[in-house]
Amino acid sequence: MTKLWAGRTEAETAQLADDFNSSIAFDSRMAKQDITGSMAHAAMLGAKGIITEDEAAQLIDGLQGILDDLESGALPIDYAAEDIHMFVEQVLTQRLGEVGKKLHTARSRNDQVALDFRMYLRDEIDTLTALTKALAAVICDKAEEYRDAIMPGYTHLQRAQPVTFGHQLMAYAMMLLRDLGRLQDCRRRLNLSPIGCCALAGTTYDTDREMEAKALGFDGICLNSIDGVSDRDFAAELCAALAIEMMHLSRLSEELILWSSWEFQFIELPDAYTTGSSIMPQKKNPDMAELVRGKTGRVYGDLMGILTVLKGLPLAYNKDMQEDKEGVFDACDTAKMCLEVMAGMLPGMKARREKMRKAASEGFINATDLADYLVTKGLPFRSAYKLSGSAVAKCIREGKTLESVSLEEYKEISPLIEADIYEHIDLRTCVSKRVSAGGTSVESVEKQIKAAREALSV
Ligand code: ARG
Repeated sequence: MTKLWAGRTEAETAQLADDFNSSIAFDSRMAKQDITGSMAHAAMLGAKGIITEDEAAQLIDGLQGILDDLESGALPIDYAAEDIHMFVEQVLTQRLGEVGKKLHTARSRNDQVALDFRMYLRDEIDTLTALTKALAAVICDKAEEYRDAIMPGYTHLQRAQPVTFGHQLMAYAMMLLRDLGRLQDCRRRLNLSPIGCCALAGTTYDTDREMEAKALGFDGICLNSIDGVSDRDFAAELCAALAIEMMHLSRLSEELILWSSWEFQFIELPDAYTTGSSIMPQKKNPDMAELVRGKTGRVYGDLMGILTVLKGLPLAYNKDMQEDKEGVFDACDTAKMCLEVMAGMLPGMKARREKMRKAASEGFINATDLADYLVTKGLPFRSAYKLSGSAVAKCIREGKTLESVSLEEYKEISPLIEADIYEHIDLRTCVSKRVSAGGTSVESVEKQIKAAREALSV
């Protein structure tokens, strides 16, 4: 096939080279952005008198026809084309004749691909934002349902202090709120238009870049044309934001896997989101959570991929930059899928309150509260800590809990201890006393839920 760029060279390129060079297999997903961008370009060329208004109208009409036919399936993608930009222009010229060849005035594929990629990722960010909000809302609902369900909170995966399941879940809602912030930050920096930078140096035509930017929903234009065609920060930044978000989903997945194990038995995942084993009839496997945890690795890979493609490139466009897309698309696809699966699975998750409560009552997780009690009786914290530790050691020796130590025995540990100790080390009291902002008390968790829901509503 004769190339749109044929002219400089005489011989045809080898088929193998064509196949190697071609990106249409993966960049055809930007067809809509490519065509919308071209429509705005044609309108600008017409408005500035670079082509006639009538030619601009023909181009816009023709482009709309191509978009409609692609969407209806009437026009199949020709995978022999080099990339989506060439394909659209070729079809346009086939359909309109000579006037089709005027579209590519005052632009280059270098600014065109930068434009399409930004527009495509902007749409992806909007979808990712909606999916992240939906998951955060599900987590808030679950946290509300379990705002008073006592469980052990862990450090070093050792039972540490009693918390509520709602409190633990809200920690994940907070992470997702930050993820939303990162997506919005990225969107803001991305939302500048590179079209009109042309190959790298700008153009001799009297173009109006601001007009095109505005028509395409950008907040402004890239101010340096060399940077405009070289910059892929927005893609790296989005991958970084998604890598962090996936890290959060992976930590949540890890906890779901642990909590649903026979060892913990804190939660039950819905049947619709678990699988059985082909040979072990007793198993209910948390495959979805494991896959989210596993897919986090590929998103990290996508981030390393784009950073590495870019790191040694001289300005401005280099063909290496065609390698900027697949990994970033994969990161978006993967994150979208994981967010949807999580938001689908969590509403059916059931906490086993009695198991959580039992685990909380077995690990001396009220030892800090015993120490705090002694502090209220006048002991310095370090001394109180020691006495509480000796009470725990005694319990371990004798197979007891702190609640089952008698008052006489407590008196031997410290004469300061009175009958009100039992009230102080009751797990419910331990939780309800933690009223500091952000703490585990029911009121504090309710406040967190309210604040998160407010943040999600904007
Ligand atoms: N398919 C190319 C890419 O994705 C489009 C830009 C090509 N520009 C060029 N001068 N060869 O990067």
